Amino acid sequence: MPPSSRHSVTSRCLTRQLVQPIFSPQLKNTLRSVLFPTTTNPLSPTGTNRVNTALDVRVTPNLVVESPKGRQTLTISAVEHTLRLSELLRRKHLPLNTRCGQRSLCDGCVVELLTGQVVHAATGEIVAAPHTIRGCEYRLAYDGDVTLRIPPRSLLAYEPQVVSDFKTKVPHAHDPLWQQIPIPPGGLAAIHRRRPVKLSPAICGSALPGATGNAPTYATLEYHGDHWLVTGLASQPDPQPLGIAIDIGTTTVALLVTDLRDGRVLSGAANFNKQMHLGDDVLTRINLCATDPAMLRHLQDLIVKDTLAPLITEAVAKAGATPDRIRCLTIAANTTMLHLFAGVDPSPIGVAPFTPAFLHHRILRSTDLPFPPPLSELCFTIHLLPGAAAYVGADLTAGAFATGLVYDEGPALLVDVGTNGEIVLKRGDKLYGCATAAGPAFEGAGLTNGVRAADGAISHIEITANPLTVKLDKIGHSTPIGLCGTAYVDFLAVGRESGLLNHRGRIEKNAVADPDHRIIPWKDYGLAFRVAYGPGKTDIVIAETDIANLLQAKAAIAAGILILLERIGLTPAQIKTLYLAGGFGLHLNRAHAIRCGLLPGFTAEQIEVVGNTSLAGAYLALLDCGALDEIARAGIAAVANLGRDLIVPLIYGPKGDLMAREAARAGLKVVRKFFADRALEANGMLVSRKKPGSVISDPEECADRTLRMVREHKVRTVDGKDIDCFGQTVMVHGDTPTAVRVAQTIRNRLEAAGVKIAPMSELI
Ligand code: FES
Repeated sequence: MPPSSRHSVTSRCLTRQLVQPIFSPQLKNTLRSVLFPTTTNPLSPTGTNRVNTALDVRVTPNLVVESPKGRQTLTISAVEHTLRLSELLRRKHLPLNTRCGQRSLCDGCVVELLTGQVVHAATGEIVAAPHTIRGCEYRLAYDGDVTLRIPPRSLLAYEPQVVSDFKTKVPHAHDPLWQQIPIPPGGLAAIHRRRPVKLSPAICGSALPGATGNAPTYATLEYHGDHWLVTGLASQPDPQPLGIAIDIGTTTVALLVTDLRDGRVLSGAANFNKQMHLGDDVLTRINLCATDPAMLRHLQDLIVKDTLAPLITEAVAKAGATPDRIRCLTIAANTTMLHLFAGVDPSPIGVAPFTPAFLHHRILRSTDLPFPPPLSELCFTIHLLPGAAAYVGADLTAGAFATGLVYDEGPALLVDVGTNGEIVLKRGDKLYGCATAAGPAFEGAGLTNGVRAADGAISHIEITANPLTVKLDKIGHSTPIGLCGTAYVDFLAVGRESGLLNHRGRIEKNAVADPDHRIIPWKDYGLAFRVAYGPGKTDIVIAETDIANLLQAKAAIAAGILILLERIGLTPAQIKTLYLAGGFGLHLNRAHAIRCGLLPGFTAEQIEVVGNTSLAGAYLALLDCGALDEIARAGIAAVANLGRDLIVPLIYGPKGDLMAREAARAGLKVVRKFFADRALEANGMLVSRKKPGSVISDPEECADRTLRMVREHKVRTVDGKDIDCFGQTVMVHGDTPTAVRVAQTIRNRLEAAGVKIAPMSELI
């Protein structure tokens, strides 16, 4: 079995194609009646039925398991024999990553059947090795030994967990995107048998294991979707490889530093996104790029140089390490933020049909980005998480995964309270998403004394009326510095109930007895409520203008929820779980969120506060490469709901692209684009337009490349190598001076060579 299929994840439809019953149905029935002569059903999907005495005396074969824990030979009792592999392996202390609850919705339990046979627990279909199967669907067959391999991504390493920023609801494996593994006796070829690897150009020609007496003993592997790139060989393990999970919000940015060896969270940091000074919302920033080409680079500098670089340096220092220990980053963000981070023009997102330049899992090198020293002197990998659409970005798909929403039968909602209020509804196997322009108020931005949830921030307010009394909770022990989002939610709820706020959101000076003179005139804008005194006895207030901003944000999110529910024909009462996410972490008062109208019609019992789920998704993806596939699948599922007739054009030519696989699984039609006028890197990605030679302007050269691609399925990369490429549609950039001549020449040469050019609908 070739390595690519050995490691491919198995979908239900793929399983149907691959599984070849080795017995006829009649013979199978006869065998079944011989093997299971009583009325009990040992093929029950639950695997809980008791077996009869006849089965107890049946020969029980050995089960050999190869896993990251080594090779083990397990003796299986007759009772254990009836269990599904996921349950059997759990009892043998080799738990699989059953994140969908063994409901055939994920690939967390995928194992490789190397020898022997297994039986589908529901259908009785017998499958012989070699095959890739889901552990929750099969049990052992009754004859012969069986050998299974549990890949690292399928071995459960961590149960759902809570860290200070978020609550994850799915278990995960420890199979990080960057890892160092001992080189087995068979060298790199032995690694390749377990997972598909390629050598990076830097490794080619260096001393490979076995080539010299002083052979390296560790290989560094970096995840590249359909393969792992070997980027280093060493004789000693890396003493402290760091991975950083990042959430880039429109208003706030948060990150966690983890030890890639064991997934421990070492430190974190957060701050406002410095792009805020150029506009509160994504549309303003998109418009800046559309009207002034220089703004793209400026906005990229603001996020990379001015926001992320200091935060990374701060968090790495807090972890007691130095930046040269950084090996890998994952970034979840809305689609516009990812474009700005990567330096890709987001202008098309701002106008119909709202087409982003990319949505797929994208891998960058730190050297491609404008990091300042010392980060500019380092080279690490950056994974941008896959999104679903222009306004349903990777932050939301990451959240849908981290909360387990993608596996929830629902009806369930994920509401991410951020500058873009993003909402996903799950019902049955369908996901529906939308976004609303809430503004940054709940993130503490744009308000008179709004701050992030940091030391000194007031996090909760309780108010009683007549006479007015105020009780505060504050983060840390320092003097109050301002109010964070949770306190503003409290204020909207208790301010209205106490009579301090009227139905228009104005402060009612005469409705409450105010012995402390907390209600004060505020600049030229009406009144303000003094919550506390800050440093130097300055007033910390909530002004009427702040209340107007908060009400606008609240109304945008509430309207988004109600409209989405109405479109699907549901009411709030029908929602089983509402996952409430947001940068304000796990401390939001649920009752206050309902009472202020942010979550209209829901009850506290329906609401689960889950914190920053975008960061949670980035963290899970960093430590479990399988999570990336699931996040991409969530995005594709949301797109697939728009219609099965959609044709998804995917940008990069070589085979095995994650999005192509997931789109095909979702039943969408996929075509591969071939860029005739763009140079390709060795990994099939387009050469950055910042590099010389990235755009090919000679029409004949473009035509030569296209003809070769059509005839030989090959294309030459910038470093002179031939790679596989099979585009079905040819793209030419319209913004180059020779664009028209390039297109004409390609067409003429293709037709002269007898290549038929047809509409896409005829092709697929
Ligand atoms: S646990 Fe088997 S498919 Fe999810």
